[in-house]
Amino acid sequence: MREYVPAIGPKSAKIMIVGEAPGAEEVRKGEPFVGSSGQLLDSMLSDVGIRREDCFITNACKRRPPGNDIKVWFPTKTAAKADGIQPMWGRYPKAQVIEGVNELHDEIRSVQPNVILALGDTALWATTSESGITKWRGSVMPHRALGVEPQTKVIPTYHPAAIMRQWGWRAVALHDLTRAKGESEFPQIRRPEYDFKVRPSVDEILERLSWISDKLDQGPMKLSVDLETRGGHIACIGIAWSKRAAICIPFMCVERAEGYFDTPDTEFVVIRAILAVICHKNARIVGQNFLYDAQYITLYWGEICNVSMDTMIAHHVCWPGLPKGLDFLSSIYCE
Ligand code: URA
Repeated sequence: MREYVPAIGPKSAKIMIVGEAPGAEEVRKGEPFVGSSGQLLDSMLSDVGIRREDCFITNACKRRPPGNDIKVWFPTKTAAKADGIQPMWGRYPKAQVIEGVNELHDEIRSVQPNVILALGDTALWATTSESGITKWRGSVMPHRALGVEPQTKVIPTYHPAAIMRQWGWRAVALHDLTRAKGESEFPQIRRPEYDFKVRPSVDEILERLSWISDKLDQGPMKLSVDLETRGGHIACIGIAWSKRAAICIPFMCVERAEGYFDTPDTEFVVIRAILAVICHKNARIVGQNFLYDAQYITLYWGEICNVSMDTMIAHHVCWPGLPKGLDFLSSIYCE
C-alpha cells in the first residue's frame, strides 16, 4: 500500500485546497480527499459553484499519520525537547510534517494560486504560521510559505472531518468557501478602507455629532452604536454612520485617571451632544446585544435611545445553532 499521497490538480489553478493529511481511502486510491471527508468537500464545493477539477488539491502532510491522528507527529514541548525536535511557529513538528510543509510551500511557489483554502488547524498553521481555526476561519490572511513573497492569500475554514462531527458548521464553511471563490478572482489582499476616528479632540467630536444631527433632521438614518464599560462605568462609545466610517469617543483613558476630558463641564457638553444624536427621533440605532449598552446609557445619562435592531438577536433568530458573538458575526457579515 502506498503511504505517500501526492497533490492533484492543474498547475494553473486559481484555488489551492490544503487539507491535513491523507486517510486510508486516500492512500488506497493515491489521491487526496477521496474518502468521506472528500465527499463532503465535493458537495460543499458544488454548493458554492467551485469545480473540484479546477482546484489544486493537496495536504499539509503527504503521508498518513498512524491511526489518522496527526497529533502523533506533533509531540508536546517536553517530548519534543527530549527528542531534539526544533520548534516551528509555536509547534514541534516531526520530520514527516516538516517534509510535507516544505513540499506544500514548493507547490505554492509553483502553482501561485490566487487563494489557498486551508481546511482545519494543521493547514492553517502550515500556510500562515497561525493556530486556532475557530478564531481565524473566514479571515483573508497573508500566506507564509517560506521564501515566497505574500502574493497570494489564505482563507481558513473548518476541516470536513470536523464538520461531520458538528454539522452546523457546514453552513459557516459554505460562507467561507463563497468568500474564497470571490477572492480567487485576484491575488492581492484587498482590505476595505476604513475611516475610523479614535481619540478625537472635543472640536472634532462636536463637529461630527452636529453633522450627524443635521442629517438626522433631514430624515431617518441608521447608526451603529457600541459602548464599552470598565469597572461598571462607561469607558467609551463608538458611533458608525456608514459601513466604513465611525468615531470612538472615550471617557476613560490610561494616562489620566480623572478621564479623557479636561473638565466635567466639557464631558457634560459631549454627553449632551451624543444623546442628541442617539435619542434623535430619526435615529435608527443598531447594536450588538444592545440591552447591555442601553442599561448604561439610561443609568448614567438618564435617556432611552432609539434602538431599531439588535444584531445579536437578529442573527440568533435566523441561525439559532451558531455562535452569536461579535467576532463570529463580523467574520460572516463584514469584509
Ligand atoms: N483529510 C485530509 O485532510 N486530507 C485528505 O486528503 C483526506 C482527508
